[in-house]
Amino acid sequence: MENVPIIQFKHVTKLYDNDPPVLKDVSFEIERGKFYTLLGPSGCGKTTILRLIAGFTEASEGEILFNGNKINHVPANKRQVNTVFQDYALFPHLNVFENVAFGLRIKKMKAPAIESKVKEALNFVNLQGYENREIREMSGGQRQRVAIARAIVNEPEVILLDEPLSALDLKLRTEMQYELRELQRRLGITFIFVTHDQEEALAMSDEIFVLNKGKIQQSGTPIDIYDEPINQFVADFIGESNIVKGKMIEDYLVEFVGRQFECVDQGLDKNEPVEIVIRPEDLEITSTEHGKLKVKVDSLLFRGVHYEISCYDQDGNEWLVHSTKKAAVGTEIGLHFDPEAIHVMRLGETEEEFDRRLEAYADVDNDGE
Ligand SMILES: Nc1ncnc2c1ncn2[C@@H]1O[C@H](COP(=O)(O)OP(=O)(O)OP(=O)(O)O)[C@@H](O)[C@H]1O
Ligand SMILES: [Mg+2]
Repeated sequence: MENVPIIQFKHVTKLYDNDPPVLKDVSFEIERGKFYTLLGPSGCGKTTILRLIAGFTEASEGEILFNGNKINHVPANKRQVNTVFQDYALFPHLNVFENVAFGLRIKKMKAPAIESKVKEALNFVNLQGYENREIREMSGGQRQRVAIARAIVNEPEVILLDEPLSALDLKLRTEMQYELRELQRRLGITFIFVTHDQEEALAMSDEIFVLNKGKIQQSGTPIDIYDEPINQFVADFIGESNIVKGKMIEDYLVEFVGRQFECVDQGLDKNEPVEIVIRPEDLEITSTEHGKLKVKVDSLLFRGVHYEISCYDQDGNEWLVHSTKKAAVGTEIGLHFDPEAIHVMRLGETEEEFDRRLEAYADVDNDGE
């Protein structure tokens, strides 16, 4: 039982009426007790996935399993899942205490136990003392926190959180990210968190599913996804990237901007067209003689920790550099980078093919030791 994923999607497709599907053949597994994030742009299907898990809508095709049992037709109130909705969905006629206590009253819990559980939940979201406030007297951020308290107080097996921090200011948001993550570890409850903010996803998650247009583009740990994006969409969505067209000459040798560079990728076809990603922080400013690329500085922005420098190469590709060094606008500079900084992306590669290729690299590394 312990090894059965708590939630599984098997080839789930969802369409509303006769419109084109909003989820297309989506399959994934959620392991118990981890923090998952669904990350993707507006309209990609994040809320739809949560609604399917919660039972507020039904899959058009495919299977949804909970603890190994098919739940496609199990009603929402019979599922071990609580949701923090994108619009909070609080009860406007109940005060803060009663909103949080609602689920416990339905379970017929005794008053003293309700009192202490509600108090604990409100403490967690920093709303102690607000018990008797009316919902309409609360700010957007406070309502959001009431909604989180209402979900955690029931201690369900899974909590679904639909952009729960989006209305908070930056400071409170960062604080709540940390607190939510801590709470998840403490409770050991599985969290499925939705956001379109990549930094939030990277900071909070054990696993991220990157979605676009109703499909999972890539799934993995934050580091995996940041370091090895599968395609241009993921590379662009997760952090800033320099992406240029290139050609794989042979194993460990790739060509772009008219030059050949040593890289760590292998197993692609000879002369296969590819796309290259280099992160701005992996580019180092040097003299034009020592640089692997020669570029002209177009603009310079001070970002607090580093300068963001935009440059162009001879082919007109833009190169974004994050550096603590300055460079004067209009001058020519060299850019240096290590072979490991070059990420080679195969065009149109599926996640299975991509994972197989990465595993092959790992084997080569191990053999070499
Ligand atoms: N009840 C519905 N009837 C028809 N189409 C719907 C319905 N609910 C959602 N959709 C459509 O399904 C697609 C995915 O919507 P969804 O709400 O899952 O997106 P999302 O990723 O949560 O976006 P956002 O970040 O804006 O909340 C959208 O194109 C949306 O218009
Ligand atoms: Mg949504």
